[in-house]
Amino acid sequence: MNRLNRTVLSMLLILLSACTQKKTIIRVSSPDQANCVEFGLSGDRAPYYRVRHNGQVVIDSSGMGFDFRGQPQLKSGLRILRTELNEMDETWEMPWGEQRTVRNHYHELVVRLEEVQAPNRRLELIFRAYDDGIAFRYAFPAQKGADSLIIMDENTEFQLTGDHTVWWIPGDWDIYEHLYNTTKVSGIDATVLRDDPNLAQTYIPGNAVDTPVTFRTAEGLHLSIHEANLTDYAGMTLKVDTASCLLTSGLVGSDRLGYRVKRALPFKTPWRTLQIADRAADLIMSNLIVNLNEPNKIGDVSWFKPKKYVGIWWAMHIGTASWDYGMTLDEAGKWVDTGNAHGRHGATTENAKRYIDFAAENGIGGVLIEGWNTGWERWFGIEDREGVFDFVTPYPDYDIEAVAAYAKEKGVNIIMHHETSAAPRTYEQQLDTAYQMMNRLGIHAVKTGYVGKIIPKGEYHHGQWMVNHYRKVLETAAKYQIAVDVHEPVKDTGIRRTYPNAISREGLRGQEYNAWASDGGNPPEHLPIVAFTRMLAGPIDFTPGVFDITLPMKEKNQINTTLAQQLALYVVIYSPIQMACDLPENYENRSAFQFIRDVGVDWERTLVLNGEVGDFVTIAREERNTGSWFVGSITDENEREITIDFGFLEPDIAYPARIYRDGEEAHYRNRPLDIRIEQTDIHRGDTRTFRLAPGGGLAISLMVP
Ligand code: NOJ
Ligand code: CA
Repeated sequence: MNRLNRTVLSMLLILLSACTQKKTIIRVSSPDQANCVEFGLSGDRAPYYRVRHNGQVVIDSSGMGFDFRGQPQLKSGLRILRTELNEMDETWEMPWGEQRTVRNHYHELVVRLEEVQAPNRRLELIFRAYDDGIAFRYAFPAQKGADSLIIMDENTEFQLTGDHTVWWIPGDWDIYEHLYNTTKVSGIDATVLRDDPNLAQTYIPGNAVDTPVTFRTAEGLHLSIHEANLTDYAGMTLKVDTASCLLTSGLVGSDRLGYRVKRALPFKTPWRTLQIADRAADLIMSNLIVNLNEPNKIGDVSWFKPKKYVGIWWAMHIGTASWDYGMTLDEAGKWVDTGNAHGRHGATTENAKRYIDFAAENGIGGVLIEGWNTGWERWFGIEDREGVFDFVTPYPDYDIEAVAAYAKEKGVNIIMHHETSAAPRTYEQQLDTAYQMMNRLGIHAVKTGYVGKIIPKGEYHHGQWMVNHYRKVLETAAKYQIAVDVHEPVKDTGIRRTYPNAISREGLRGQEYNAWASDGGNPPEHLPIVAFTRMLAGPIDFTPGVFDITLPMKEKNQINTTLAQQLALYVVIYSPIQMACDLPENYENRSAFQFIRDVGVDWERTLVLNGEVGDFVTIAREERNTGSWFVGSITDENEREITIDFGFLEPDIAYPARIYRDGEEAHYRNRPLDIRIEQTDIHRGDTRTFRLAPGGGLAISLMVP
């Protein structure tokens, strides 16, 4: 139920003299008064903003403006035409999510600006102050003599007030699959991270970082900069001036088109966001990003149910099966079976049925099947990938109709897989046919992928052209009642509020790197950083649940966590689809698997109990419709004790708790499988202290009897 309460607090017509206007500072404060944005015009009438938290400046005077093609910069020489203050207080419901209801409560300041001199161009700034941060966007009204704008770059500044500690990945135009760096702002050097041998595509043009980027000040305040509602615009990186700790927006461009953004007038940019939290844990509780998006545009999505899933997937990453079958491309450009099948193909009818059986037996709702369609012989490291993948033609050993019928009979949903190999035009041509086929087979979710450099050349994964492609896929999918989980995506900016078929995405170094990365995989601090950075953007398809942690078939790789931490990830890392990614045989007769069977995927409430960026985090989530609670806690390479106060439980219930904790000898390096599983009753108000091993974790199920 949506409650909309929009009050225009006041409308101010500012008709002051030019001289006084320059000195005017206009403020808007959050409902709780903690966060305040100040806006003014500087000496040369350049717009600037400043942000305060409890009176302290946290973003100092920062400029705003644009470079265009075919017209002068718009950055100064402006006067205020009028300002307006608005308030919003609504509560909206998430069809699936970290919590059922979200309160969207803010104060808004709209500033209408006009150039003092001809051509008197106009620009609007919209600021919002929330209790959990601030945001602003630019609106370009219709202008005389121009119907569109070409933006060569945006010059939004974020003037930090000190050399904060920062957790960052490079401002890569093509991929977010980097390890996080922990440095001071003055120590950021993204350019040394070029040429990562693990990445199929990467382009880091200068010293910039991507968002969400999270900071901790010397006083212990936490800030995170990101963007919301990235629609028909380029993704934003932040160029870093290490000497002055100034960050300036740098939009992802198109070498093919020679600009960053082209838009018809009028239009609004995405929101530039700053989440502010005294406790690191409160960053994760913030709903700023989703709140800045528009309400659901696609209506009822009850055809998608949050679920756990298994899949024909991990075997390919650890190298025991392949995506491809061993077909040959004939002269007419058709894939033919010339008897070269190598026998290692993963997506066979038989194997798919085995996974479906396993899912059905364990209450797991979905099965992902990768490598089912023709084209995989020519997808990786090849320039010409246009027209190679076909999204309707299965390999000869995969009977798609029979598998779909079998899944239906067993009450399991297939998750379709479409690897586009970064040839989006090929995919767009087939969208309708591919989704029609899915619809006919009763398949309501697809995992897409965009490995490789984008074709056409000169486009990047995070530029406007690709942002529009990803959106087109979502919109088309919605028409066919299909939910989308994107790998190699553009960053999440909360559009799941508007398009709740945007269920999950990758957009980080996922579990797969543990199987094959040349650096041995993700270090234990990776996820305790991700929880406070990438996860602020939205759901993550991280694919937890490896039980065969030492990866005997991989000499140089293992999972750098304990088994208890693999369980904890189902609670800590949020996604409405959570994979149990290991091979079914590795779950057999393993008592720890009970946690994966039990854990929820759709939440009534989320509480972040404690945490420090890069060190540890503990999250408790209440499952929708059952009242059961699940707790997950993870640590970095350091062992530590975590105290949990169970004050969040309902009174007068003895919750039968199953505790999965690191054993006394557990250590991610040499004793990752040492786990203790205990059963006990836990009541509201109980307090318990647990030891997490180096790289360790803790998972607790508290299921209402
Ligand atoms: C990269 C994705 O992240 C991974 O999950 C997938 O298996 C491969 N691409 C193949 O599509
Ligand atoms: Ca990937």
